Amino acid sequence: MSEVWTVLKILQWTEGYLGDKGIEGGRLDAQLLLAKVLGLDRVGLYLQFDRPLESAELAAFREMVRRRARREPLQYILEKAEFWSLPLRVSPAVLVPRADTEVLVEEALRVGSGAETILDVGTGSGAIALALASELPRARVEGIDLSSEALAIAQENARQHQLHERVVFCRGDLRALPQGPWGLIVSNPPYIPAAEIGALMPEVRDYEPRLALDGGPDGLDAYRLLASQATGSLAPGGWLVVEVGIGQAQAVSELFLQSGLSNIFTRSDYAGVVRVVGGKKQ
Ligand SMILES: C[S@@+](CC[C@H](N)C(=O)[O-])C[C@H]1O[C@@H](n2cnc3c(N)ncnc32)[C@H](O)[C@@H]1O
Repeated sequence: MSEVWTVLKILQWTEGYLGDKGIEGGRLDAQLLLAKVLGLDRVGLYLQFDRPLESAELAAFREMVRRRARREPLQYILEKAEFWSLPLRVSPAVLVPRADTEVLVEEALRVGSGAETILDVGTGSGAIALALASELPRARVEGIDLSSEALAIAQENARQHQLHERVVFCRGDLRALPQGPWGLIVSNPPYIPAAEIGALMPEVRDYEPRLALDGGPDGLDAYRLLASQATGSLAPGGWLVVEVGIGQAQAVSELFLQSGLSNIFTRSDYAGVVRVVGGKKQ
């Protein structure tokens, strides 16, 4: 007779299995994957701990666990992530939006809440553009990205949140920013020094788009390009606000100063890492 796998039993087994594969937080991953297979939320799972799984459910779950064990990011398997309390569709064409990036949104709202035109450079899933649009009902937002696949995901997310009339996504290159003047330019650009990509955790190194990570030899390529175009693209009194990697804030602040921006500020994330640099066009 074949073994009966209940919800509780398969969760316990999966937590141990993912732990053996070096994955921390395997219990939560197992719960979220099983909840997706069964069409439940996590509370629903708790209420059905003794439920035996059907063979099709077991097969679908095992395939997802196999993917996670190969270190594919959980969000790609679930096909969703949450950012600024907005559920977003994600795929391997986009960076998984990070909680740290919400600090960039907080700072953009602090200095740029009066902006009526906002540009999000390297928009990916559209996370930052959509978060800002959801908070600023008078603003028109444009998100640009080099990746057409990413733009398709961003557009889907805009429609899902009924923001598609105020947020447009266009193919564009940060080497030639779209004509302004913009009241606010935000960006979480690629900023990992190229030689350091190989040492990143497998979820990032092996699955997230290299285009979203590679910041050139010292990680600062995108900041040089953004800073050099900022005063030409911003409206008077407009702000450029960017996310930076660990240890990059000083160099980026200097680039902003050299480009003629003023009122330079930095902001740390909730782990104490300086994560955001901003500057204003007088
Ligand atoms: C670090 S990801 C940020 C994605 C999203 N804004 C977020 O915070 O989750 C950087 C994004 O920049 C895009 N990108 C890379 N090079 C670019 C370029 N030259 N012009 C425009 N976008 C670019 C990538 O495709 C990727 O979507």
